[in-house]
Amino acid sequence: MAVRSIFSNVYYFNNTLQEQRAFMMRTSGSNTFYIHTFGCQMNQSDSGIITALLQQAGYIPAESEDEAGIILLNTCAVRENAVDRIEHYLQYLHGLKKRHKGLIVGVLGCVPQYQRQEMFSLSPAIDFLAGPDTYRSLPLLIRQVQAGQKPFFLEFNSAETYEGIEPVRQGSISAFVPVMRGCNNMCAFCVVPFTRGRERSHPFTLIMGEVRQLVASGYREITLLGQNVNSYSDPEEGRDFAALLEAVSREAPLARIRFTTSHPKDISEALVRTIADRPNICNHIHLPVQSGSSKILGLMNRGHTIEDYREKIALIRKAIPGVILTTDIIAGFCGEQEDDHQATLDLLSEVRFDLAYMFFYSERPGTLAARTLADDVPELTKKRRLQEIIDLQNSISGELYQAAVGTVVEVLAESESKRSSQKLMGRTGTNRVVIFDREHYQTGERLNVLITSSTSATLIGKPEYSVDQVSSIIKDKSLFY
Ligand code: SAH
Ligand code: SF4
Ligand code: F3S
Repeated sequence: MAVRSIFSNVYYFNNTLQEQRAFMMRTSGSNTFYIHTFGCQMNQSDSGIITALLQQAGYIPAESEDEAGIILLNTCAVRENAVDRIEHYLQYLHGLKKRHKGLIVGVLGCVPQYQRQEMFSLSPAIDFLAGPDTYRSLPLLIRQVQAGQKPFFLEFNSAETYEGIEPVRQGSISAFVPVMRGCNNMCAFCVVPFTRGRERSHPFTLIMGEVRQLVASGYREITLLGQNVNSYSDPEEGRDFAALLEAVSREAPLARIRFTTSHPKDISEALVRTIADRPNICNHIHLPVQSGSSKILGLMNRGHTIEDYREKIALIRKAIPGVILTTDIIAGFCGEQEDDHQATLDLLSEVRFDLAYMFFYSERPGTLAARTLADDVPELTKKRRLQEIIDLQNSISGELYQAAVGTVVEVLAESESKRSSQKLMGRTGTNRVVIFDREHYQTGERLNVLITSSTSATLIGKPEYSVDQVSSIIKDKSLFY
């Protein structure tokens, strides 16, 4: 899962008119809040829950950070540089707080859960801390800050699934539906079990209720979310992820159904069959491999060998023609030798993933690897290996995208392109980003787009017609005859 930077949202300004206006709005709106979300889709989904909880308590979402009396950072601890970003941002907020008395800063999510109350020493800007299982207490924590305290609430609560809270969603086209929280795997490099606690699945019936509501509100894409989504187990009747995915796809037949993240060891034949059989389940599986070497996978405690991974890929490709696979790679994990690194490059060449999220290993205190293995690959070697991995993967992605030029793909239009108001951005079912001429088309529409050119991460094209309009004409005709 990609870590997104939010620094494009950061404004450094002098004492300008803009600042004076922001100050007026801030002082007049001490019950307004703004959330900066870092990290994975689970955090993005949690920010929707936080928004709902605060709104229920009478707080009002601010349009921008400048207009907020309360600034919340929903943080990620997965790599050291993710934590560095939070530190930098807190430095900026420290300056802002000196100028704007009464501004409240809360740090939420994975970093405080991991660093606990020691986090306060990171910056005097921090007023309170809350972990992923304690968001129901946010209104109380804010009141405690207003009463002059520096509270923190960082307990795990393995019963907390935020049942009964309807998240406030961004946009009206795509929706995340968390189906589980936490993770019971102990991948040696990973902090997530320490930041999010024990795995707990949401009841099947509640998930289906949420899906029904999304269908009624006209959502066109539903992504089922979990750190290890395919180990889902319904706490009421033990239904597995394949059963859940199938039921969701039937409940929302006009929506695209996605899911992330899958763990290779938990990909079952039943799951692969469900993806193959149900037309609205997207033919895309994000299947992090981390390394191409069984020795390294063993040290990482991933629970499978590279041969097992190859077998899963073969099973998937045989059952789902046209399936697109993406992955995550870590370069320079403990004990990685040149031949292990070469095995990763070989795997990339062989599997030809559409896209990979690629990182160099970042030791996280307290994890299995930090406690039991030496972080023994020199930094320069880690970076060199990562660069080799990136170069190879970019050239593979470039070739795969180039091969799509001249074909027609079905795209769900999601938003205006960031670069031009004359263009729209959408995705294929296989999760490729497509930029195309807007013409008279709307976001939320499914279109057939002729691909005219490509880069290693984007397809560029011209829309041919609206699939939605054509299907509604066909439906009308079938009523008529
Ligand atoms: N639950 C997901 C991954 C969550 S973290 C899964 O199991 O696939 C997202 C990605 O970050 C991981 O797949 C891994 O590639 C990377 N990552 C996690 N910890 C890391 C670390 N300590 N150093 C470098 N990359 C890391
Ligand atoms: Fe981390 Fe492994 Fe759990 Fe993914 S499956 S969140 S990598 S411990
Ligand atoms: Fe980061 Fe927490 Fe997600 S550590 S990757 S935000 S679960």
